[in-house]
Parts: sequence; structure tokens; C-alpha cells
Amino acid sequence: MAVRPLVSAQDPVLSRKTIRVKRVDAGIRRLVKDMIETMHYAQGVGLAANQIGVPLRIAVIQLPEDEEALVLVNPEVVHREGSRELTEGCLSIPGYSGCTLRSEKVHVKAQGLDGKTFRIKAEGDLMTQALEHETDHLDGHLYVERLVSQDQMWKHDEDEAEGELEGDATEAASSSN
Ligand code: NI
Repeated sequence: MAVRPLVSAQDPVLSRKTIRVKRVDAGIRRLVKDMIETMHYAQGVGLAANQIGVPLRIAVIQLPEDEEALVLVNPEVVHREGSRELTEGCLSIPGYSGCTLRSEKVHVKAQGLDGKTFRIKAEGDLMTQALEHETDHLDGHLYVERLVSQDQMWKHDEDEAEGELEGDATEAASSSN
């Protein structure tokens, strides 16, 4: 396993739609392990493969209270409902947060590392936000495209470390993914 470097916000791999995984093989499983390790190292709650320069449709999510990462191969949002405003950050845009417009409910269909298809339904929580944020990454979109308005983005204080946003449930909503 290895921590992989994150690509910069300007890297075109972040603005392109990623490619679906045809078969979950040993190479994919290795990639996922590296993604999880990279997410932990960067103290994010989620990571999409293109954030480490790999243009494949894979994301991992691990909320602060979760013991294991959720692995999403070929995730697709199959249902969205409602809207809400949230504070959001991204490992690919370090040092900034913004106020985004996101869905209240999200249903995602994906495959696990066993290749089997599963569905996850989330409503009104950090998982809901992370599912939209990561599938957005895989579609070539960053959260800055979902801002409530263009002035709703701000730089963190210099003494405020990225990891400090990872605290309790309310603060976790502003952690990076
Ligand atoms: Ni992100």
C-alpha cells in the first residue's frame, strides 16, 4: 500500500468524466487500498480516483465514525430529492471552503470490490453530501460548480489546520472530501 500524491486543482483529469471499471481485479484492489490510505493520510472523508490522477470510476468514503471505508466501484446517482445548503471543502482545493447547494436525499447504485451491485440510500447527513461530492468528482465536477453563489467561498485562517475540521458531527460537515 502507498499514499499517492493528489493532483493539483488545475489538473485536467479532475474536469473529465472518468471511465467505468470493467472488471474488479488485483490491480483495482491495489488501487483502492492506496486510495483508502491516501484518504486517511490527507484526513479526508472521501476520495475519488481522479484526485490521484487515475481516470477510473472509483471512490472511497469514510465518515469519522466509520470503522471501514465504503468502496464504490462505478457509482451512479440514481435518485436525488430536495435541496439544502452546506459547507463543503475538497482535498483538491486545500485551504478553502464554500457554501454549496446539495440534495437532501441521494440514492446511489455501485459495485463493491466483490463486483456485486449494491444500493445505498442516504438522507440529510454527511454521507449524503459525500456521495454527491465523490460522484461529482467522477463526472468531472468540483464543488465550486455547486456554490450557492460565487462569493460563497472563503479561505481558512492560516492557523486553522485542515485536520481540525474533522471533529464532531456538525464540524464533520465541513471536512474535506
Ligand atoms: Ni473533493
